[in-house]
Amino acid sequence: MLMLAIETTCEETAAAVLEGPRPPDVGAPAVRSSVVASQFDLHARYGGVVPEIAARAHIRQILPVIDEALRRAGVALGEIEAVAVATRPGLVGALIVGLTAAKSLALALGVPLVAVDHLEAHLYACQLAHPDRQVYPCVGLVVSGGHTSLYRCEGPIEAELLGGTIDDAAGEAFDKVASLLGLGYPGGPVVERVARDGNPAAFAFPRSFLREERLAFSFSGLKTAVLYTLRGQDASRPSADPPPASLVADLAASFQAAVVDVLVGKCRQALRMTGLPRLGVGGGVAANGAFREALDAMCRAEGVEAFIPPLSLCTDNAAMLGVAFAKLDAGQVADLEIDVQGGLVRPGRQPS
Ligand code: KG4
Ligand code: ZN
Repeated sequence: MLMLAIETTCEETAAAVLEGPRPPDVGAPAVRSSVVASQFDLHARYGGVVPEIAARAHIRQILPVIDEALRRAGVALGEIEAVAVATRPGLVGALIVGLTAAKSLALALGVPLVAVDHLEAHLYACQLAHPDRQVYPCVGLVVSGGHTSLYRCEGPIEAELLGGTIDDAAGEAFDKVASLLGLGYPGGPVVERVARDGNPAAFAFPRSFLREERLAFSFSGLKTAVLYTLRGQDASRPSADPPPASLVADLAASFQAAVVDVLVGKCRQALRMTGLPRLGVGGGVAANGAFREALDAMCRAEGVEAFIPPLSLCTDNAAMLGVAFAKLDAGQVADLEIDVQGGLVRPGRQPS
């Protein structure tokens, strides 16, 4: 069965063509094509995503991106047998563009529409990347620009929230610290690059809740600690000169080490608390090399199987919407009246 998947939750306009088993057959689909049009350049000067700019860029990009996904897959529009779209959570204006395109195509083609949760999709990237292995049941960590949440995942569409951040998401902390250090946007990749030249033990930054038996995260104190170390206690005073490169590298490395310690520590706790034998990780921060290495080492030490998708499946993309095959199998077809659900909506808590 050929499915067209559309993803416009934030600042990437993405479409993919997936080929999967026709229900009631089950299994992970193959990715025939996956196209991602980033909007980084449009938002960089603002140091973060501007929702209105994102929505307008999606309008310009959505049809060419869908066309390109079909072309690369060698599939004609008329061959598409289902349309999947991420309808939550995300920026409302951005989501509406993807949903409108998906509804129009589903209606015109007379094929089922499947609504997908972006967070379930991030975790499903683990199954997509390892089609021959059993990923579920597992502990799932979504670690992105908007989310840092741990789930008990009994299956691809059965996620129960175990705990999450009480303030900033980990990716958001990377972005804010990059901005403090004058490194630009998006922050994750550039902080990682700069951190390679720094000493991760140069500064002992806070690791919130690490020693507590509680599946919660907090990254806003860490961000403030970086700010005070950079500018002194009077952080409102703008610094006269740009900080020396060696200081920036040490701050980046020490910050990254604190985030990695906390993320890995909480995954270990979740694995021990649930007794689940597998860990799946999704979201943009899972592209971070230091995090991937530390997570792998922890899982080996715990005797747990780790699933971390390749980089292209960690950051936002439409291929991960392959979770829609599990939804189709469960009879979860959306009607054409459905709406988007913006904001920080949690999977497993919403009607489909
Ligand atoms: O999953 P994603 O593409 O979009 C959301 O759903 O939010 O994640 C984007 C986030 C950004 O905050 C970005 O800075 C972070 O992922 N990120 C990284 C890396 N690559 C992207 N964080 C740390 N290291 C990276 N290499
Ligand atoms: Zn995402």
